[in-house]
Amino acid sequence: MNRYKIAVVAGDGIGPEVTREAMRVLRTLGEAGGFDFHFHEMPIGGVALRTMGSPLPPAVLDACVESDAVLLGAVGGPEFDALPKDKKPETGLLQLRQALGCFANLRPAVSVPSIADCSPLKPSIVANTDILLVRELLGGLYFGEPRGRRDDPTVCVNSMVYSEAEVERVARVAFEQARRRSRKLTSVDKANVLETSAMWRQVVTRVGAEYPDVQLDHVLVDSCAMFLVTTPSRFDVIVAENLFGDILSDEMAALTGSIGLLASASIGGRVGLYEPVHGSAPTIAGQDIANPLGAIASAAMMLRYSFNLEQEARDIETAIRSVLDDGYKTADLQNGRPGRPVSTSEIGKLVEQRVAALVDHRHAYHAV
Ligand code: IPM
Ligand code: MG
Repeated sequence: MNRYKIAVVAGDGIGPEVTREAMRVLRTLGEAGGFDFHFHEMPIGGVALRTMGSPLPPAVLDACVESDAVLLGAVGGPEFDALPKDKKPETGLLQLRQALGCFANLRPAVSVPSIADCSPLKPSIVANTDILLVRELLGGLYFGEPRGRRDDPTVCVNSMVYSEAEVERVARVAFEQARRRSRKLTSVDKANVLETSAMWRQVVTRVGAEYPDVQLDHVLVDSCAMFLVTTPSRFDVIVAENLFGDILSDEMAALTGSIGLLASASIGGRVGLYEPVHGSAPTIAGQDIANPLGAIASAAMMLRYSFNLEQEARDIETAIRSVLDDGYKTADLQNGRPGRPVSTSEIGKLVEQRVAALVDHRHAYHAV
């Protein structure tokens, strides 16, 4: 039996509720499909700070590095806002990404026709949206030096720093992803103003020469933000530096109807990190109303990118789609729209049942 060691760092706010549902689905899929998913649950973020004194305690980091993949919920909360940087929950997440060497963050955003009315944009605009954002995750303003207060205490600095090698490696991931999809890649930058962006554009163009089958274009980040809400269907794969990608991925969430649906995979190192795009949502934590589908879809990405279980990943994605198509809606998708209201755990169980049925069906089919 294939055994996979999964480090689960659920974190703060709704993190524990949504990762619980992702674990539920994985456990059942494992039982039906003959895989042993072994979960090692540990604290990260604010809860780790409170119980162990650090947002990423060394023992937690070591266990993540030694696992086969990491599933993360969310970190942060208003009670931590005033803390110094090394105590902030977000610092724990950034250190984990860095330690795992996850330089490429894949964030898919797909408009599901049966819930197209959940987007604030017109259904005619969001129709056919199917975008994969590849966000550079370990460079740029998030990590660049110098940073912080300068000699003049009235001045504060962050630096956008990129090496050609850092741009090249994330560009390659984006071109490879484009090859698996519609062979169209849009590189996002601010090359009319920023030197790092001019270099980004040069490097992406150079790497592009090795992928003549992929159609490459370059769009300035401000135009990209506009095109995402006017003509999102023009995009297939988008590659962007860290902060541009952070901002654009939240904008992309509005196309799908709820950020609660969005999943992500952070890859590039030996161990992948999988987390929903949404945050800790402290105002709705503990009420069993959060949408766990982004966390469950992140578990599907784990199967695809860390364990090479493509068919099982698709089973989860098919189950999620069928639950949405049947009108089941967590609170974020309701807002007076027709549908069948469900809680966090109810929608998790629905996905679980459908995944089990899909896996059983495939096994029965292969047995005859
Ligand atoms: C995200 C989040 C994080 C980021 C925060 C929580 C540090 O916004 O994953 O998009 O900025 O990368
Ligand atoms: Mg973000």
